[in-house]
Amino acid sequence: MKPINIGICGLGTVGYGSFLVLKNNWQEISRRVGTEVVVSHIGTRRLRPGQDVGNVKISSDVFAVVNDPAVDIVLELMGGIDVAKPLVLQAIANGKHVVTANKSMIAVHGNEIFAAASAKNVMVAYEASVAGGIPIIKAIREGLAGNSIQWLAGIINGTGNFILTEMREKSRAFADVLKEAQALGYAEADPTFDVEGIDAAHKLTILAAIAFGIPLQFEKTYTEGISHITQEDIHYADELGYRIKHLGISRKTSNGIELRVHPTLIDENSLLANVNGVMNAVMVNGDAVGSTLYYGAGAGAAPTASAVVADIIDVARMISSPQSSVPALAFQDGSLSDIRITEMPEIKSAYYLRITALDKVGVLAHITQILGDCAINIEAIIQKEPRGADAASQRVPVIILTREILEATMNTAIAQIEKLDGVAEKVMRIRIFKLE
Ligand code: HSE
Repeated sequence: MKPINIGICGLGTVGYGSFLVLKNNWQEISRRVGTEVVVSHIGTRRLRPGQDVGNVKISSDVFAVVNDPAVDIVLELMGGIDVAKPLVLQAIANGKHVVTANKSMIAVHGNEIFAAASAKNVMVAYEASVAGGIPIIKAIREGLAGNSIQWLAGIINGTGNFILTEMREKSRAFADVLKEAQALGYAEADPTFDVEGIDAAHKLTILAAIAFGIPLQFEKTYTEGISHITQEDIHYADELGYRIKHLGISRKTSNGIELRVHPTLIDENSLLANVNGVMNAVMVNGDAVGSTLYYGAGAGAAPTASAVVADIIDVARMISSPQSSVPALAFQDGSLSDIRITEMPEIKSAYYLRITALDKVGVLAHITQILGDCAINIEAIIQKEPRGADAASQRVPVIILTREILEATMNTAIAQIEKLDGVAEKVMRIRIFKLE
């Protein structure tokens, strides 16, 4: 059989990382596929210092790669949407298979892209779009395919996890850690995507689609970042036996499917609570298997290239024996479910509340009265002695853990608490998630 030709569009960190893995492991890759896999064409404006691609053809126009009749599989590794989406649609129109690491493009435009691919009978593979080197797409779409998935929860943004870890372990300031994450190359081009949860929401959208057999619905994902989490919140959570993690959570309930990304208190003894630094981990609970955990590097050239090359091998094997393909969104075309996405006020959660009260008689009584009137059960309460600036302004931090309650009820209680004369600031609310 003739070699399978790869065209790479974008030779940045992931593009060049994938080129190197293909080059270094070509013998094993060819043995796994049953035919030779070669990079035949690269689309990039320039080679960066230190990049050496031998005598592979280079075009400055990435569309030259997707229009090259010799290319069988197009790697879209540019990121962004403006050029990437038309490029992928053009590749599909030309009858080429596509491998991409582009989470925003898949989360926002995946339904359209997969429909186009299905019409042309080509594959669009996207393992590298979620959690870098962790084969989580394959695990859910194939390894857990016998289960009815109940829920999944993951640390799926390395930058955010690095920030929370450094704040907790070294008491470092948020902005300072973010700068380091950018310098280390973990952060997105626009780091608000990391710290405001947009990047995690892209990834959660993809995971939920393949877990529950629903269309990609990024616009319905509740997204809350970590930029408002303070050093105090992290330390109060510690005192209460919890860690704050930025989780993407999707859970099936009788009310629909929850899709939410937010800072979350989780038990300090849980496995996810001990996933630190830039590492990613996803916990998936299926009715037959119970809870399973997938851990690894969520970003970086080589880990992401590992996922890209695994996809290339899958596609290349499919070229050799087309009958073995797996549907792009795990469930067969035409059988996606239109089960509703739960609105946030309808979810049930336990909560951590940090209330900045004024040091006056009766404030705590008013707060607990409001919670009681709303039938919110208090699990733990800490009132701290004011120190430093808090002492000067007579502010007292009150930390309350509640039992599970409807989010709408908690919204009402928080609104009433914030109206009290004795409460000085907006209430900090962090949801608690029990990983069981
Ligand atoms: N900015 C992303 C992260 C890169 O920090 O996880 C990998 O998607």
